[in-house]
Amino acid sequence: MKIIASNFKTNHTRKSTQEFITKLDESLSQDSNNRVFVFPPNTALLEDSFKNLTIGSQNAYPIESGSVTGEIGLNQLQEFNINTILIGHSERREIIKESQEICIEKFNFFKQYGFTIIYCIGENLKTKQNGLDSTLSFLESELLGIDINYDKLIIAYEPIWAIGTGVSATCSDIENVHSKLKQKLGKIPLLYGGSVKPDNTKDILSISGVDGILVGSASWELGSFCKILENSKEC
Ligand code: PGA
Repeated sequence: MKIIASNFKTNHTRKSTQEFITKLDESLSQDSNNRVFVFPPNTALLEDSFKNLTIGSQNAYPIESGSVTGEIGLNQLQEFNINTILIGHSERREIIKESQEICIEKFNFFKQYGFTIIYCIGENLKTKQNGLDSTLSFLESELLGIDINYDKLIIAYEPIWAIGTGVSATCSDIENVHSKLKQKLGKIPLLYGGSVKPDNTKDILSISGVDGILVGSASWELGSFCKILENSKEC
């Protein structure tokens, strides 16, 4: 069993999300092997009631309801029965300037409500160039304050330098980092993300210590995402 997750980021409208997810759910009906997640933009959230996939939120504020302009909270997610969330994606850390403290606050809040949490970590190019030890201590810092014994936690290792570049990390880079992270994380599922495409899916999913993938750009077109799912079947 592998976890295959699609992160739409700031792509797709409500209408195109509905079409995408409905078709995807139908196409998955024979495929019980993998656990599939889709994270549409919050304006395109759909009731999490599909047979073969789970809908999650890319982001929410750690509050039930209240005054946080521009954000959504727990009540807005509960309206759609959403109980899965991405936390700590590098685009939120880098572009929105989300601190480790707010990631921890979000983690603790949504953990308290029993959410499945895909928590993202990943180093930038400079840290990677400083060697494996620098990478590992940076990743460690992004796990600080996160309860790694939480049973609904999934970690996604997404090196920033591989995100949206079309060039994924090499299999040996992934294996090196995953094997070290696995020592710390034990049984927690560990995903890889960063330029996963149909033609590298099989290789990446075959690496020991890779329990699944978090896919951005190559998942935005249904045909491409279906190929990724197809190629993940034998892994
Ligand atoms: P990418 O994005 O597949 O476009 O590299 C991955 C991610 O940011 O989750």
